[in-house]
Amino acid sequence: MTEYNQHFEKALDFINIYQELIDCHLVDFITEGLWDKCLPEKLRSELENIDMSGDIWEENNTDSELSNFIQLTKSLSLESCPAVICVDDLPKLLPQFSTERMIENKFVYPKFELMNTKKSHEIEVLGKVIAEIALSTRSLVIDAGAGKAYLSTYLSEHFNIPVLAIDSSQVCHKGAINRQEKIQKRKRTLTKIIIYHNVIKIVIFLLIPPAYVLQEIYQNHIHFESRLRLFQMLRIYMSSVVEAAIMLDRIIFLQNDIKCSKVAVIRLFDPTLSPRCYGIIATK
Ligand SMILES: C[S@@+](CC[C@H](N)C(=O)[O-])C[C@H]1O[C@@H](n2cnc3c(N)ncnc32)[C@H](O)[C@@H]1O
Repeated sequence: MTEYNQHFEKALDFINIYQELIDCHLVDFITEGLWDKCLPEKLRSELENIDMSGDIWEENNTDSELSNFIQLTKSLSLESCPAVICVDDLPKLLPQFSTERMIENKFVYPKFELMNTKKSHEIEVLGKVIAEIALSTRSLVIDAGAGKAYLSTYLSEHFNIPVLAIDSSQVCHKGAINRQEKIQKRKRTLTKIIIYHNVIKIVIFLLIPPAYVLQEIYQNHIHFESRLRLFQMLRIYMSSVVEAAIMLDRIIFLQNDIKCSKVAVIRLFDPTLSPRCYGIIATK
């Protein structure tokens, strides 16, 4: 547990230094002068004079502001937290999660209608983990914050697991109930979407100035481009520290206030498909 606490404290200290970089919105980059406003002076002046011919994001041991920033964000992300486990480590945490997988060889053909690649990847991976636990403990699954119940439907349809899906949103609730009907009506819906997109295109066409005016505006601001890229890269590196702080805050709460006997952060998804790839697993 101290590992989590130490990592959390260090992440918070780092976040405090870069608070403005985290809180800002990229669309304000030019109008609000975010380059000057959000970057610490030393890092900013180093980046203003940096040689962009090589890969400046490659890890190296130079004692530069950027190199220190990259190293710190990596060391404070969940990737570097020794307490993070992967799916294969689950049997150590949950004795009932047997090494003899109950569903591993079972042919599972997920019905991934109306789901994008990210969502279907998440449902497939998380669904199998939950199905293993539920089947081996003969448990009912409560899907709290089920949204449109993609996960609940998957567990129920493919593994015959009883699921109670709860969501506070009326829209999601209705969406979940109507989903099967929607799949049937898919063809008709697609036709409607095409018409809708065409109408939107006409509206956009009427509102946006002609191409040559846009081109002129673009040319007048093109010198911002390299700084904007650098700025966005810094934010991407920073986001892994923010993610670590959010997850660790929850873990520490579960451990201290809810008194869970076992709590861990688990890496579930392929980060190239689902960047927020971590989950929390806790047992009472
Ligand atoms: C990010 S969505 C996740 C949906 C779903 N679990 C999925 O992965 O597709 C979070 C859902 O949690 C629901 N939610 C948030 N707070 C809730 C609460 N206190 N009680 C029940 N549902 C809640 C929201 O309405 C939303 O549908």
